[in-house]
Amino acid sequence: MKGDVERVLFDEPAIHRRLDEIAMRISTDYRERELTVIAVLHGSLMFVADLLRRIPLPLKLDCVSVASYHGKSRSSGEVVFKEVTVPDVAGRDVLILDDILDSGHTLAAIRETLETAKPRSIQVCVLLSKKKQRAREVYPDYVGFGIQDEFVVGYGLDFKERYRNLPYIGVLRKELLESI
Ligand code: IMP
Ligand code: MG
Repeated sequence: MKGDVERVLFDEPAIHRRLDEIAMRISTDYRERELTVIAVLHGSLMFVADLLRRIPLPLKLDCVSVASYHGKSRSSGEVVFKEVTVPDVAGRDVLILDDILDSGHTLAAIRETLETAKPRSIQVCVLLSKKKQRAREVYPDYVGFGIQDEFVVGYGLDFKERYRNLPYIGVLRKELLESI
């Protein structure tokens, strides 16, 4: 698996240091409110587990599961909700947690869907944000790291459902992407 990664961008200690900082900001911003976290599966699994354990506030956790890649490395634009029920977030202060912001399709669709349930507020937190022109505009409130427009894997992020268990985040070798 390691040989498939061209270069490591963020190792485990670097990720954890950044999570300490983001968790501190979120804990300060939400100190008077009860947070409802909506985790976007499966990519955000490691991120959510490590981040939430650093936030010493009462909070609720719900998950949504969507697909927009269909095994390819580029977003199709069509976002399919795999969880049939949308979490009931009426009147709640919602924080959406996702692994990576790329084209913006996924987070824009999730945000729109959750807004129909009339939450009190919605904010977005992503571990990674690709610096690029997006198909849909999404302005995350908390960002772990800004990265170039490259395909990355590890720490929850997959390519064809593999590499999620790598403890670091790295750029996948281009030949592997081209093999599909
Ligand atoms: P968007 O809808 O294009 O913003 O894509 C968001 C989703 O696509 C993320 O939640 C990831 O699951 C996936 N994704 C986008 N870029 C990458 C990447 O570089 N590596 C792995 N997954 C990615
Ligand atoms: Mg994902």
